[in-house]
Amino acid sequence: MIPLITYLFQKAVENPLIDDDLVLIIGEITSATKTIAGKVRKAALLDILGSAEKVNVQGEVVQKLDELANSIITDTLKCTGKACMLASEEVEDCLILSDTGYSIAFDPLDGSSNIDVNVSIGTIFSIHKGDIKKPGKEQIAAGYVIYGPSTMLVLALPGFVSVFILDPESGNFILVEDNFKMPEKGKIYSINEANYNKWVDDGLRKFIDSLKEEKYTLRYVGSMVADVHRTLFKGGIFIYPADVKNRNGKLRLLYEASPMAFIIENAGGLATTGEKPILEVVPEKLHQRVPVILGSKYEVGKCIEYLKNG
Ligand code: AHG
Ligand code: MN
Ligand code: MN
Ligand code: MN
Repeated sequence: MIPLITYLFQKAVENPLIDDDLVLIIGEITSATKTIAGKVRKAALLDILGSAEKVNVQGEVVQKLDELANSIITDTLKCTGKACMLASEEVEDCLILSDTGYSIAFDPLDGSSNIDVNVSIGTIFSIHKGDIKKPGKEQIAAGYVIYGPSTMLVLALPGFVSVFILDPESGNFILVEDNFKMPEKGKIYSINEANYNKWVDDGLRKFIDSLKEEKYTLRYVGSMVADVHRTLFKGGIFIYPADVKNRNGKLRLLYEASPMAFIIENAGGLATTGEKPILEVVPEKLHQRVPVILGSKYEVGKCIEYLKNG
């Protein structure tokens, strides 16, 4: 039963990238998610469900738990004294704390539309050294915590992905999978088909139709963390494409697409915008959006072919 911090110090022996400050940052982010997990599970008793009656920089109605999760993570990371920039989905501008150290981009609560109906939601984070606005391939670490039937942490460092479960008795994230690799192929596709006629690419419609021919199952939760987590463990493909209204799709590069792409690719899968690998995209704006196609090598490779042939 190896706790997260012990695991990180063990990995640090053979991996100079993992320094004490990075262990501290990862430890503090995950400790903030334990607090968030507690609030999520008691939300109805604490009157923190529902809307905070305000609209965020994304144009979304902010949920009370979005706001609470954001302040828990922000306050925790400020206290480390090792963070230089914080970029949150819920905050218009970057919070500049110092000119050196680690920068963290985070989605404090992903899947907000599912909070009030008790469906799995999560927290996503991406860690860079120095400036946060760098291509995803330069991430030092990325991860997510999913608040589901169990609270799970999936953490990627360059070259490997590890999986932890929050043990409610000890309060520790305990290692359950080391060097996790995802299936090469699956039988599930995940996309919001309500927008089928609005997708920009005809090739995407032909690809989805081909999966139906091959008797794939459709699963779509509407929380990116839940849909990516299932894709990581069962294989298959998750897509949030460009449509005629949102030419860059809906998902945000810095704190959704990039960290998830880092995890998927370090677990042996692929992640693309449809035109280029997500990890190659150079961020221009803090909250910029990109189309997301990620999952097993077989399905993502096939999708890219269909997009090319139109
Ligand atoms: P967030 O709750 O952080 O704003 O993210 C919501 C995102 C993502 O979790 C999910 O994949 C997507 O919204 C679902 O969008 P649709 O409801 O348009 O399918
Ligand atoms: Mn949101
Ligand atoms: Mn999100
Ligand atoms: Mn969010």
